[in-house]
Amino acid sequence: MDDENRREYSLDLQLEITSLALIKENKYCVIYLAGTPDGPRIVKKYRGGDSSLVMVEADALGFYHHLAQDEPNLIDSGEPLLREDRNLLCIGFVEGDAFSEVLYKARKDDSLRDRSVRIMRILGNVIRTIYEKTQRPQEETSPFIFEYFNYCSTRLEQMPLLGSTLFKGMSSEAERLSNDFRLSNIVPSFIHGDFVFKNIHIKDERAGLIDFANANLLSHPLNDIYNIRFALANMLLPKKFKADLLAGFYDGLGSTDFPEIAQRFYYEYHRRRWLMLKLSSRIPADLIQGLRGLLSFTKPFTAEDKAV
Ligand SMILES: Nc1ncnc2c1ncn2[C@@H]1O[C@H](COP(=O)(O)OP(=O)(O)O)[C@@H](O)[C@H]1O
Ligand SMILES: [Mg+2]
Repeated sequence: MDDENRREYSLDLQLEITSLALIKENKYCVIYLAGTPDGPRIVKKYRGGDSSLVMVEADALGFYHHLAQDEPNLIDSGEPLLREDRNLLCIGFVEGDAFSEVLYKARKDDSLRDRSVRIMRILGNVIRTIYEKTQRPQEETSPFIFEYFNYCSTRLEQMPLLGSTLFKGMSSEAERLSNDFRLSNIVPSFIHGDFVFKNIHIKDERAGLIDFANANLLSHPLNDIYNIRFALANMLLPKKFKADLLAGFYDGLGSTDFPEIAQRFYYEYHRRRWLMLKLSSRIPADLIQGLRGLLSFTKPFTAEDKAV
């Protein structure tokens, strides 16, 4: 089967693929490691006939390539190769280890810790650069952001037990928060959309971003910022190390003046998304993390949670 796919994708992409190995499947696509005479590539075959998802990822990868090609701290994944009519995408291979692995290794390795903090500075700086380059003052925040916020809030409120206690009123409050946000004319900009440690590869002193499947042209850097903050909070790492990592990130981000409503909105957006994903998961480890989060870092927004 894989050999059939190998031949098919070779023809579709007009690219000599010498080997094809499945990495994983998700809801939207099948992901392969492809060997070519010029080295490894990632091939993503999206499901179904609708090409809108594959195009979002391809466009975002194109943007990342332009950003990374003249940024020595970033690992570039090159110009993506898209076969829109086949729902097929070929992406340059980003070497290195997932940052999540590096962080766990760094627990017992001082020099790796320092390097991780330097990497966080690079990442903060990338978010800053993206923000500066992609603001669209004439446009409004993507409706998807509000729909998903409402979806997560409603799912939480409908949960047995916790829904009628801890999460009561969440969905109407989401509505109010969304309206306040909309009235504030927050200028939207590009986000990675799944800015977590697994989607950041590290090689030596450089970082490469992968997995642009959830990119959005019309969101806000606070979306990526709170995403990685909740991911960091959830990791079992020494407190001081976490604080240093976050400080490095904000150092790289530099001074910002994001309105309070945007901070509150995206904090709640990720708090609820995180809780919804963990607490409705069928994987026991997720449930345990969700409960741990509930007891510690997933309190509703307060002034202390401001991003900067
Ligand atoms: N450009 C890339 N370079 C190297 N490895 C990649 C690349 N894209 C994906 N991968 C590998 O495939 C895995 C899944 O791909 P990803 O795009 O993150 O999909 P998912 O949305 O399922 O997380 C990644 O965790 C990584 O191991
Ligand atoms: Mg991923």
